[in-house]
Amino acid sequence: MTLLEVEGLRTEFPTSRGVVTAVDDVDLSIESGEIVGLVGESGSGKSVFAESVMGIVESPGRITDGDIRLHGESLLDEGRREAVRGSELSMIFQDPMNSLNPTLPVGEQIAETIRLHQDVGESISLSAELKRKLFGAAKNSEAWRRAVEMLEAVEIPDPAGRATDYPHEFSGGMRQRAMIAMALSCEPDLLIADEPTTALDVTVQAQILDELAGLKEAFDTSILLITHDLAVVAETCDRVNVMYAGEIIERGPVEELFANPQHPYTQGLLASTPRLDADADVRPIEGSVPDLIDIPYACHFAPRCPESDRECFEVAPDFRSVGAGDHEAACLKRGENPELSTGPAEVSDD
Ligand SMILES: Nc1ncnc2c1ncn2[C@@H]1O[C@H](COP(=O)(O)OP(=O)(O)O)[C@@H](O)[C@H]1O
Ligand SMILES: [Mg+2]
Repeated sequence: MTLLEVEGLRTEFPTSRGVVTAVDDVDLSIESGEIVGLVGESGSGKSVFAESVMGIVESPGRITDGDIRLHGESLLDEGRREAVRGSELSMIFQDPMNSLNPTLPVGEQIAETIRLHQDVGESISLSAELKRKLFGAAKNSEAWRRAVEMLEAVEIPDPAGRATDYPHEFSGGMRQRAMIAMALSCEPDLLIADEPTTALDVTVQAQILDELAGLKEAFDTSILLITHDLAVVAETCDRVNVMYAGEIIERGPVEELFANPQHPYTQGLLASTPRLDADADVRPIEGSVPDLIDIPYACHFAPRCPESDRECFEVAPDFRSVGAGDHEAACLKRGENPELSTGPAEVSDD
């Protein structure tokens, strides 16, 4: 069974200027054992997509359409959502300092997560607060032992010693590793990693991505990896979804999509990524992601697209097959669409 199925998801924020549609009719699926990438420029709606799946969209934002199913069951059902939170789904963020408690030793925070979600060795039902009072300091508890094991799994040196350190005593890379340890400590089926290495230098970034891929195997966790960096996706993911202005515009197996990018936006992103196109000039895409309020043109990329014509502003593109292995792009100028009589890029414009 498909692990995660997102169908027609729409997430909106009412603002004084109008309704921001941050996620606009998005479909995305993840099979067990996959690392799936979600990539796009800043402001595309990637984080809001992740928050929607986690059920943590900031009020007054809310999901207004579509469905999110984990193991076939809808997470829009509050009871189901409560049941999976933290145990089947967990998330790590770009800045671990925002997620780690500065006043507690790192090992203790991981142990607490383990206790809260799994009731390790303490089956009586106590409040979280009371549990922490009773068991929190017990360095010989089962949860503490597992916390140290988790720090070891994410390759923190001297894990037993470092477990008693506070977050500020860790380097940026170690804090991110600690976050990963905490997120994996409840053995989630799906880990959502939102720009997990963006704040780190390139060497540490590569190490952590390697470890994530290794941990995926060890913990049998699927990963949704969110990034603005195509190189990160190329190194890590099985499949990739390219997001632009609230919509997925291209998707497919990683190797196929990078060898044969089809959507003009994906092509632009690739041309603006130095590490992937080492020999070519780095050419940024001109312009920026539009304000996601009432976008008046059918293809959201049309105003920035070197190939767009009037049709692109008027006719919403649906997905067409553009290559092997379910490689699809939503662009009128690509692939086959028998319903449209016009040929590619041949529409005359006034
Ligand atoms: N709490 C919020 N209130 C209003 N708009 C928001 C809120 N959070 C995000 N947005 C808007 O949603 C859009 C997508 O943002 P985001 O998901 O953070 O993009 P990304 O993660 O791809 O950089 C942006 O236009 C952003 O301004
Ligand atoms: Mg983001």
